[in-house]
Amino acid sequence: MQGVILHGGQGTRLRPLTHTGPKQLIKIAGKPVSQWVLEQLRDSGIHDIIIILGDNNPNKVVEYYGDGSSFGVNITYVYQGKARGLADAVYKVKDLITDDKFLVYLGDNIVPYDRFPSFLSFKGSASILLAKVDNPNRFGVAVIKDGKVVKLVEKPKEKISDLALVGVYAFTKEIFDVIENLKPSWRGELEITDAIQGLIDRGREVDYRIIDGWWKDTGTPKDILEANSFLLDRYAERKIEGEVRESSVDGRVVIEEGALVENSTIRGPAFIGKGSKIVNSYIGPFTSIGDNCEVKNSEIEYSVILDNVKVDGVSMMDSLIGNNSSVVKGKRWVKLIIGENSRVEI
Ligand code: TTP
Repeated sequence: MQGVILHGGQGTRLRPLTHTGPKQLIKIAGKPVSQWVLEQLRDSGIHDIIIILGDNNPNKVVEYYGDGSSFGVNITYVYQGKARGLADAVYKVKDLITDDKFLVYLGDNIVPYDRFPSFLSFKGSASILLAKVDNPNRFGVAVIKDGKVVKLVEKPKEKISDLALVGVYAFTKEIFDVIENLKPSWRGELEITDAIQGLIDRGREVDYRIIDGWWKDTGTPKDILEANSFLLDRYAERKIEGEVRESSVDGRVVIEEGALVENSTIRGPAFIGKGSKIVNSYIGPFTSIGDNCEVKNSEIEYSVILDNVKVDGVSMMDSLIGNNSSVVKGKRWVKLIIGENSRVEI
């Protein structure tokens, strides 16, 4: 079975974090979002992975995943470059698909679904994964009649369905013929919803599955924090490989190799990455600290701190701190160097 992970896009809503790399590489609960996706596909038996790269530092993706062997999969890379839409990205794998059916998963989505083999044995020309939502006007939705998808509508103004498309699709090669004839939408992109609608308009059957419960498109900082809480809650298990001195470590806490926790309290679920030092501090629940960070004299809760970050003398919650940043209490005046689209609350 072949699985395609979309790793392009612009990631404008996550700037400035996406100025230096694709959003799918943002680490949540110890792993890039796209690694959660890749491992989920691998664990459900999909070992042939095609990663579609965009134009935002695609070399970082190739450096991280390599040929996939250290993740237990075979990876082929395809370059989409500029973000011209999901259907444009999917079209890029046309010459690489060897099976009758293939799976497409948006690399910034977390969809806890574990029945991909049965999802791939769909009837007709495609299958989509759907979830019931309270605010369908914010999503692409599917209208279902007699057990079939009859219509797809992007961000409907009227309530015609509360079943939103989540970021996982299954196709036959017929999708490529439709995409070849697709026109760009008002935003200049080739839309995947238009491509699937194209199948329906040709009289083809589009199947679907409805998932229960939580799923997330990690497109905004708030989404990243919510995904972090969910992933820690669901997957964190107590594993202390680093050193703990004179500290209290409660519950499901991961302290990775080479990390040091000294004179501090850690309350799980929480994750502390390799080589990080936590000194005289409190790390509260639902917090992920990346690799090689230094946290001193601080309190942090419900936050995601990426790699090589320094925090000193600060109490923070609901915060998302990018790689190589410092958050340090000044003596009197606040001194700030803030990237585009940032938000600071003091
Ligand atoms: P989006 O989140 O819809 O788009 P974006 O990444 O450009 O983000 P923003 O709106 O903040 O600028 O994309 C959904 C997923 O598909 C995401 O994983 C990125 C990926 N993608 C591609 O691989 N190629 C594309 O052309 C587009 C538009 C998205």
